Amino acid sequence: MFNQLQPMPADPILGLLSQFREDPRPVKVDLGVGVYKDAHGNTPILACVKTAERIRTETETTKVYIGPAGSDKFNRLICDLAFGEGHSVIEQNRVRSVSTPGGTGSLKVAADFIKRCNPNATMWVSDPTWANHISLFKGAGLKVEAYPYYDQQNNVLKFDEMLAALKLLGPDDVVLLHACCHNPTGQDLSEAQWDQVVEVAAERGFTPLIDMAYQGFGDSLDRDAYGVRKMAAAVDAMLLCASCSKNFGLYRERIGACAVVTKDSVKADIALSVMLHVIRAIYSMPPAHGAALVETILGSAELTQQWHEELAVMRDRINGNRAMLVDKIKAAGVNRDFSFIARQKGMFSFLGITPEQVELLKRDYAIYMVGSSRISVAGITEENVDYLANSIAAIL
Ligand code: LMR
Repeated sequence: MFNQLQPMPADPILGLLSQFREDPRPVKVDLGVGVYKDAHGNTPILACVKTAERIRTETETTKVYIGPAGSDKFNRLICDLAFGEGHSVIEQNRVRSVSTPGGTGSLKVAADFIKRCNPNATMWVSDPTWANHISLFKGAGLKVEAYPYYDQQNNVLKFDEMLAALKLLGPDDVVLLHACCHNPTGQDLSEAQWDQVVEVAAERGFTPLIDMAYQGFGDSLDRDAYGVRKMAAAVDAMLLCASCSKNFGLYRERIGACAVVTKDSVKADIALSVMLHVIRAIYSMPPAHGAALVETILGSAELTQQWHEELAVMRDRINGNRAMLVDKIKAAGVNRDFSFIARQKGMFSFLGITPEQVELLKRDYAIYMVGSSRISVAGITEENVDYLANSIAAIL
């Protein structure tokens, strides 16, 4: 049975985790996986999460199954967070949501759900996108195509080309959009650009699937959800995949949500029933712990306030790192313009160096990033930034 198997290469992003851990060089710098790190390079548990865990330990009375949709309370609260309390799709009872094992679990549910809705649907992803998007959609048997998104020569959005490509799509197409903090480029749509994309989606009738893995890491919880809210108000059908990995720092707890918006409440109930069927055949039911923590935080005004403050600290540090890196690269004597890094948002940017230079940084300087030259700016600290900037200057 297993004799035909050929080994697979390590995942281009997750493979860096073990390579970095095994590197004995003390100067090593981790700009690989999208995980928040503080000024000392640690990923601490948020204080609001610690409190919620204490409350959870004291109040949990059973471990009995919840069901394929997960916690109703979490599902409601996450919709308020994403769409905004009182959004028309919530008021009109046109949205249904389920808890999922992280953002990837949510995307898997969405992918299998789309396949059920329309086996001939084509998934359109940005060029480039998070590599796992493509594996996930192809794995679900969907055809995957790319629309123009990022100009890697000039570090700007290819917005006109993107819009022109979307204008050719129709009801058999699903368009994956990143709500904010585009992974891997950090280049987001402006609000005015979102308005145009929303208009084209409503006109052409394709289904938007918005991946919101970094709400709160760009500008603010509300501003990062601009496109989600605007789109939901304008179209009859859309999907939203949300993750609590980054903004609640719950990475290994695996908690996210998948929401479907339909034309009316009857269709919403039908869509939910299909989604539950899909879930039963993948993982049956989501883990409960992360959802319980999120609902404890969002269900308490005090803990919510604390979470907002802790999220702002993470966001400000990341934005500060961006500006700091640009300054230090300049100070290291590099002529090339890296100022785009300071204009971009979220955890990631493309450094814009070759795969050979990426390899050199790893081999000779113990600096780890994805082969595409995607850096996770959260891994930059005041301690390592001079070393990083000088190493970049050296390989350039
Ligand atoms: C990343 O892109 O680094 C994160 O989303 C983690 C992952 O699962 O790839």
